[in-house]
Amino acid sequence: MKKQLEELKIQIELFEIKQSEQVENFRLKFLSKKGSLNQLFEDFKTVPSEMKREVGALLNQVKQKAQQKWEEAQAQFEANKSKDSAEQIDLTLPADKEFTGSRHPLKIIENDIIEIFKTLGFVYAEGPEIEDDWHNFSALNFPPNHPARDMQDTFFITEDIALRTHTSSVQVRLMENQKPPIRAIMPGRVYRNEAISARANCFFHQIEGIYIDEKVSFADLKQTLYHFIQALFGQDVNLRFRPSYFPFTEPSAEMDISCMLCKGSGCNVCKHTGWLEILGCGMIDPNVLQASGIDPEKYSGFAFGMGIERIAMLKFEVKDLRTYFTNDIRFLSQFESMGN
Ligand code: PHE
Repeated sequence: MKKQLEELKIQIELFEIKQSEQVENFRLKFLSKKGSLNQLFEDFKTVPSEMKREVGALLNQVKQKAQQKWEEAQAQFEANKSKDSAEQIDLTLPADKEFTGSRHPLKIIENDIIEIFKTLGFVYAEGPEIEDDWHNFSALNFPPNHPARDMQDTFFITEDIALRTHTSSVQVRLMENQKPPIRAIMPGRVYRNEAISARANCFFHQIEGIYIDEKVSFADLKQTLYHFIQALFGQDVNLRFRPSYFPFTEPSAEMDISCMLCKGSGCNVCKHTGWLEILGCGMIDPNVLQASGIDPEKYSGFAFGMGIERIAMLKFEVKDLRTYFTNDIRFLSQFESMGN
């Protein structure tokens, strides 16, 4: 038995534990119930009593050695394991991105436009979407039963109340309540009874502006819009004004900008003209000033109005207006990094 124990001692010493499975193999071979040490403890019962002391001490010594080797190996593999898993987590990697929502493209453009006019001293104003005939039409020089009212296919609620067809109604409210100089910009949702298509919707968003003071001229209007367009679209954009008609302005004009996609050489977006229609404008008709209690002999002013959808379509190259209103995350998330 002594010999057996000496051999076992050597076996234990020579057993190589290089991989984690070998830790368990070692335990099974030497330390488990069916392992060789346990077997020797069984055999110990048959050792003659005069030998028991010596053999017992040796047996315990070998068992301790095996136990120690096993515990050390176990601790070492545990430590390696946690080191490995710590290495797998790279704390310097950027976190997974989650879409938490973003500003709507129309709001991004609206805010850009407001910011530009703010630098010119224009203040922000807003008014109701449900309007009376006076503010939407009559005060703006639309005579009763005049066909000009049909220019804007109106959603009437009663004979006298309608969903506003333009934010010019806010201009009237401002003129009624303030004394010149008035310099304001008014964004808002407007409604028109139009067939819904890629280019038209039954509601859309406008920004209008007015400037009323002594001696305001068409030159002021042009220079203001020129500055605005260059700030929004860049320095190399050109402008042109075409004569037009609005009941509330005289003279009236429509303003085009050179197509920023083809740089004026002609493409599908500008219908091969090199120009894009962008806003309506003009000098406020003296009748309109008068109707709101502003003396047209003393004051003059200009007004302009534009559709935000159209400008956003040009800036972001959006082809179908309806995508603004369907709330498809795939569309909206494209604007995630803008406008915050
Ligand atoms: N209110 C006009 C429209 O909705 C735009 C406009 C505003 C034109 C101010 C001239 C002056 O079409």
